[in-house]
Amino acid sequence: MNYQKIIEKLHHDVNTIPDEGVVASYIPALKKVDSTKFGVSLCTITNECFGEGNFEEKFSIQSISKVFGLTLALKLIGTKLWNRVDVEPSGDPFNSLVQLEFEKGIPRNPLINSGALVVCDVLISELENPKKELLQFVQKLANNKNINYNLEVMQSETKHGFKNAAHVNLMKSFNNINNNVDEVLDLYYHMCSLEMTCLELSNAFLIFANGGKLLHNNEQIITARISKRINATILTCGLYDEAGEFAFRVGLPGKSGVGGGIVAIHPNNYVITVWSPKLNAKGNSFKGMNFLEKFTTETASSIF
Ligand code: DON
Repeated sequence: MNYQKIIEKLHHDVNTIPDEGVVASYIPALKKVDSTKFGVSLCTITNECFGEGNFEEKFSIQSISKVFGLTLALKLIGTKLWNRVDVEPSGDPFNSLVQLEFEKGIPRNPLINSGALVVCDVLISELENPKKELLQFVQKLANNKNINYNLEVMQSETKHGFKNAAHVNLMKSFNNINNNVDEVLDLYYHMCSLEMTCLELSNAFLIFANGGKLLHNNEQIITARISKRINATILTCGLYDEAGEFAFRVGLPGKSGVGGGIVAIHPNNYVITVWSPKLNAKGNSFKGMNFLEKFTTETASSIF
């Protein structure tokens, strides 16, 4: 399979489709991005990487980071996490509060905001320096020390994060948050502000295509069983109320962020990351969805 050629062709084809998306503006710092950026990178478990467009430029990975937080929390406390967060798709937007009160402060899954906030609470309880250790963990997965938080994005979200504050407070009222509310929000906003390139994300997610093992040194970061569970959660919950549509059109586990990135995993095969900042009505990259649908069709490589 000539991945480079296919990616180049589809990048060109998708660029000719009028972009119906809109850049996220509810976090003011995200509005500054050049909305014409469009990058794609694919890395295989046979250690080959390909890319096209702006695939080596950093962007705000936002909710894609929830997968890193979840992986570290599962490494630290294992299945105990599932007493505090469920694994069901929510069918609701990523920041919806509706189910949380009915379900007594237990988030539907770890990839919606409330779930990721519980994950951050776990990291604070388990780690001495959660911000530093989470960053080191991501750097280790990507085998790249040149990854960092963007403090401008972090502060911008902190100033406008009334709804996330509502989530943490509601969960605290149900005794599902053990630490200080502001501390939980601070770690969460740092995590969401991580900046990475498409290439760095494809590399960092390779463990989920490789049974939980780092490719470059064979270190088992998580068990194959945990890797399977994370892929299942990404498939059913990674695109929120568009997870069904993504499975239908693309056919891979995929995780999106409001920065316009989408990472998709083909277990035992490859990871592909697309970045284009304009989002569709459900908050997922318009071009990203289109590209990935064309890619799995052209390569006949969905998991179904
Ligand atoms: O908490 C928020 O709203 C953002 N930091 C992350 C949201 C996000 O990326 C949802 N993904 N599509």
